[in-house]
Amino acid sequence: MRSSRRRFLLGAGGLLAYPLVGDAARAMAMPMADARTAPQLAEPGKPLVNPATLARFVDALPIPPVARPDTHRAHPADPGRRLPCYRMEMRAFAARLHRDLPPTTLWGYQGMCPGPTLEAMRGEPFLVEWVNALPSRHLLPVDHTIHGAEKHHAEVRAVAHVHGARVSADSDGWPEDAYPPGRSLLYRYPNAQDAATLWYHDHAMGITRLNIYAGLIGAYLLRDPEEQALGLPAGAQELPLILCDRLIARDGQLYYPVSDDPAAPWVSEAYGNATLCNGKLYPYAEVEPCRYRLRLINAANARHFELSLSNRRPFLQIGSDQGLLHAPLERMRVELYPGERADVLVDFSGLDGPSVELRQPGEPILQVRVRARRRDVAAASVPSRLRELPRLDPATAVRERILTVGEMDDVNGNAMMMTLGGHHWSDPITEDPMQDSVEIWSLVNLTGDAHPIHLHLVRFQIIERRPFDLFAWNERKELKYTGPGQAPAPHEAGWKDTVRADPDMVTRIIMRFEGEPGRYVWHCHLLEHEDNEMMRPFKLLPRA
Ligand code: C2O
Ligand code: CU
Repeated sequence: MRSSRRRFLLGAGGLLAYPLVGDAARAMAMPMADARTAPQLAEPGKPLVNPATLARFVDALPIPPVARPDTHRAHPADPGRRLPCYRMEMRAFAARLHRDLPPTTLWGYQGMCPGPTLEAMRGEPFLVEWVNALPSRHLLPVDHTIHGAEKHHAEVRAVAHVHGARVSADSDGWPEDAYPPGRSLLYRYPNAQDAATLWYHDHAMGITRLNIYAGLIGAYLLRDPEEQALGLPAGAQELPLILCDRLIARDGQLYYPVSDDPAAPWVSEAYGNATLCNGKLYPYAEVEPCRYRLRLINAANARHFELSLSNRRPFLQIGSDQGLLHAPLERMRVELYPGERADVLVDFSGLDGPSVELRQPGEPILQVRVRARRRDVAAASVPSRLRELPRLDPATAVRERILTVGEMDDVNGNAMMMTLGGHHWSDPITEDPMQDSVEIWSLVNLTGDAHPIHLHLVRFQIIERRPFDLFAWNERKELKYTGPGQAPAPHEAGWKDTVRADPDMVTRIIMRFEGEPGRYVWHCHLLEHEDNEMMRPFKLLPRA
């Protein structure tokens, strides 16, 4: 049984040049003598907490502190200039996820989860020294058959990435630059982009899913004068809410699901049954009876959230991944796939009751208690227009790339690995856009699931999602559309950096490749997929 997945992967290189799904995949996989079955999900070896049995709303919602620079250091490219420098140390620590649970060992930036919030102003660059002070043994089961996590690598490695930031390649958290405990890297963040809810997290090759699950996440709020001029809720009325799901053993420790093959413990998606909000299970927050700005970040490995308010009032969504929408939108439900963000306003004045819950279907996440009005809080009006959002014109694209989103299944249809464009991580680079050029990427989803696809460096717009003929693709590699394209809904019509590629659809996105030439990555943000080949390099070529 050992490494059946790995053998499959190696053996299939030539035969399965393209990922297949369903019956087609089975037909192809069958004749392979050594392509057995993917390991199945193992029963947890220890009893897990049933979150439904825990008291609700007994812990205050933690608000991560705003990071303060420790020093000033010379600008790497311009030594005469000194920049603020933050030190972010990754280390193990223990924290209670809930009042009635024993302390949980976690890994976090500055010994907290989420880590301190990095706040940036457009045009004001800074440096971050990312220090790996983690233990040398991993908290969670490493799968050494995964590409980039082989036994010859240090078991614990880390490299930080700011999701959604336009930074040069040498500060972007290239997954293979992950480094062991005792070392650090100094990264430079130009902050030369529009205000947006960004977030930072680990990106180490082959173990990103484990490092993030262990707690290596934090918010990064980028501001700009145009946004500040809108008079949106700020200060104590602005809360980052970082959401993720976990399985917790009754001894308080994190449980990460594994397969029944100890030599190849990878599972295709890790879902928890407990939703943590800023690192707490069922917390409460006390608020003033006024409007708040919530920065919702989905930091889960695989879970998508469908958030709503228990009083059936809408959120007012003002922003998505890469900043403000054109105009505020009333939304009863906010759906977020892993990696995605939503910037929403909620008015806690004039509620019918003293509290309201932020909910996921079937489960509360956070209780918001509204304090009695002590003073008159002037209800700031929300501007009806937030910013101009010029559409990128598909006619300006110099190239359209057809890129498959696929998975390789075993004989029973269980996922064994995922691919993009039919390629493995280590295959030669195929995506090589020219600096400042506009391209369209058409993501052809051959699988039965939605995959949140994320590109580093750039922001993009969704052109459309369009149904296509899967069989024509599987048989002849012919891209045959079977219906008209569906334009993105208004909440998806702003600048994005992560897009849901739906099954049976071609998801078409358009972007201008602004930034410094170099190697970056694009990948699925389901972290188990990302770690198991659903990540590819791309190379930004210098403009001619
Ligand atoms: Cu949030 Cu490459 O990732
Ligand atoms: Cu995926």
